[in-house]
Amino acid sequence: MKIIGTGSAHPALSVTNDMIAQFLDTSDEWIVSRTGIKERRLITDETLEDLAVEAAKNAMENAGVKLDEIDFLIVSNVVNEYDTPSLSCVIHGMLGLECPSFDINCACTGFMYALDIAESFLKTHDYRNILIVCAEEPGRMVDWKDRSQCVLFGDGAGAVVVTQGDNLKAVQLRTHSKVDPLWQKRLMQPTPFVTKEEKGGPLVMNGQDVFKLAVSSSTDDIDIVLRRAGMTPDQIDYYVLHQANIRIIEMIRRFVRQPQSKFPVNIEKYGNTSSATIPILLDELNRSNRLKEGDMILMSAFGAGFTTGAVVLRWGKN
Ligand code: UT7
Repeated sequence: MKIIGTGSAHPALSVTNDMIAQFLDTSDEWIVSRTGIKERRLITDETLEDLAVEAAKNAMENAGVKLDEIDFLIVSNVVNEYDTPSLSCVIHGMLGLECPSFDINCACTGFMYALDIAESFLKTHDYRNILIVCAEEPGRMVDWKDRSQCVLFGDGAGAVVVTQGDNLKAVQLRTHSKVDPLWQKRLMQPTPFVTKEEKGGPLVMNGQDVFKLAVSSSTDDIDIVLRRAGMTPDQIDYYVLHQANIRIIEMIRRFVRQPQSKFPVNIEKYGNTSSATIPILLDELNRSNRLKEGDMILMSAFGAGFTTGAVVLRWGKN
């Protein structure tokens, strides 16, 4: 496969660290120095579906692909306003697509999984184009009374169109079943037969555990995916990493011993938008013409589960 178009969309409201410090015991200084985040966008009047559709349309326009040329829609999403149907069904109708679709929930690693699924579909079906949309609304999940987690996240959507090609050089996906560091339970509807009590609530996160798992699993994945691609760290032009914490990115950078210029970031503007961080960053790089035909990109992400993944991809439409 190859990526032939990118798109993204953000909520209108930008929430600065100072705005959060008005209702929580935190400060711009603490958040910037510990995370690199200065502001994040949060959904207010718009819906996640609106953002997903806008990102999808931007990606299709960038790819020069029309609606009837999309043969499959894959949506990566953790939470949205519906438990069912899937977000893909909702935005499928809003876009006016006619192809099949489904959602995946691999938390922040969703884009890595979606790329691998798209590659397999392109190999096993006579599909031309697959639309991947990562649309996430962690603002709906976090505990807005817990300063150690709510400051980290933002809402947003990123999308790509992929087509037949030979640009996916290597993939490494993993699931470590470690639920404790990061989880959220949904509220159970009362039934006449179930007597046990199950309580829903906001996200629960052990930040330090997630931090350690993120660094150890990402550095492992990067090592493995580079070996699979038959490449050394020097041969990668850009490391497009999950935007969760600038200190995690910096530790990974030191592991591969590569210059900062190879590690584009936008975490200061958007915080952690879960699986949307990498396609949003890719879209920024693409639209600002920083990516050149033939550039080698290494993407790597980690998230609840614990899921992790890394991909080496050659950039280019040819
Ligand atoms: O996609 C995956 C999503 N999750 C992550 O990526 C999370 C990964 N983990 C992290 O990014 C970091 O662990 C955090 C940013 C969450 C926390 O940073 P840390 O350097 O590990 O801080 P800490 O948990 O060790 O807390 C240090 C202090 C504590 O105070 P005491 O106990 O030393 O008095 C916290 O209560 O900082 C306090 N603290 C805050 N202070 C001001 C925690 N959050 C805040 C805050 N503002 N927002």
